[in-house]
Amino acid sequence: MKHLLSAKDLSHDEAVMVLDTAEAMAATQRHAVKKLPTLRGKTVVNLFFEDSTRTRLSFEAAAKRLSADVINFSAKGSSVSKGESLKDTAQTIMAMGADAVVIRHSACGAAHLLAHAGWINVPVLNAGDGTHQHPTQALLDAMTLRRWYQPGGPVSGPRRGRDGSPAAQGQDLDGARVIIVGDVLHSRVARSNVDLLTTLGASVTLVAPPTLLPVGMEDWPCHVSYDLDAAIAETEPDAVMMLRVQRERMSAAGGGFFPSPGEYSRRYGLGAARRAAMPEHAVIMHPGPMNRGLEITAEAADDPRSRVIEQVSNGVSVRMAALYLLLADEGNQL
Ligand code: CP
Repeated sequence: MKHLLSAKDLSHDEAVMVLDTAEAMAATQRHAVKKLPTLRGKTVVNLFFEDSTRTRLSFEAAAKRLSADVINFSAKGSSVSKGESLKDTAQTIMAMGADAVVIRHSACGAAHLLAHAGWINVPVLNAGDGTHQHPTQALLDAMTLRRWYQPGGPVSGPRRGRDGSPAAQGQDLDGARVIIVGDVLHSRVARSNVDLLTTLGASVTLVAPPTLLPVGMEDWPCHVSYDLDAAIAETEPDAVMMLRVQRERMSAAGGGFFPSPGEYSRRYGLGAARRAAMPEHAVIMHPGPMNRGLEITAEAADDPRSRVIEQVSNGVSVRMAALYLLLADEGNQL
């Protein structure tokens, strides 16, 4: 694989290889080897046409920890506001000597276009394209789950959970049960996680109001429910992943927020009662940024079972792994 464009493109073994490599990268960081020489002399360009905190900073940190040079481009304040096209922007960046391009864009398919239009000839890593895909988010979520889920453990009960220490090499998520809750309609995180987690053997249940589910989900390899309480009771999940309500995409589409924020919180928010209903070992996840008080209460976000901060930290390791596997001199290994 020359590019990392979609979680769907990863086979089971490729996904496990990225996760094993990410654990190796995390180990170097634990041992205070802050900088590896692997990508010395390479330049990674971060092209961000949409806002980001976690993804942009962690791609930058990942590239720097592999000793690459980093050029950060943000559409705000650039010549994009004067009408410059994606093609011209990409070719301008290439002329500065990029060895890889990380792109976030509001348009679905932007990363694919950049990779395959023939404008540039270096690996492209998709950092989120519209409502479509966010493969490194799914990989960091899978890395986080691998550390907390016990494959082959008892079907329910506290012993199903692990202690959060690094997963064994080759481990997948066979048998894990994950509930993903909320604004699936606008969520590239939900799509990417359905693709990747099921490739790794997990069973995924999406829970959302009917108004926040996309049409044409018949082919998605997951269960769908409108009732979060029933899904928690029936599924006995190993993880509950809350999605951000993407109000900016609702406004851009000219639509309002339906159901109302209050009703949404009551029916789909994670608060005290639902935390109590979750199995003891189950972890709470959220890709961030969180709308505290809407899809998740502050108490749930800060619960000892919340893995939100660990997800961020695993994001650096996963992005180090992706850059290493696509760019290192040993040759493209994905
Ligand atoms: N999870 C995520 O993609 O966060 P950012 O938008 O802050 O990058």
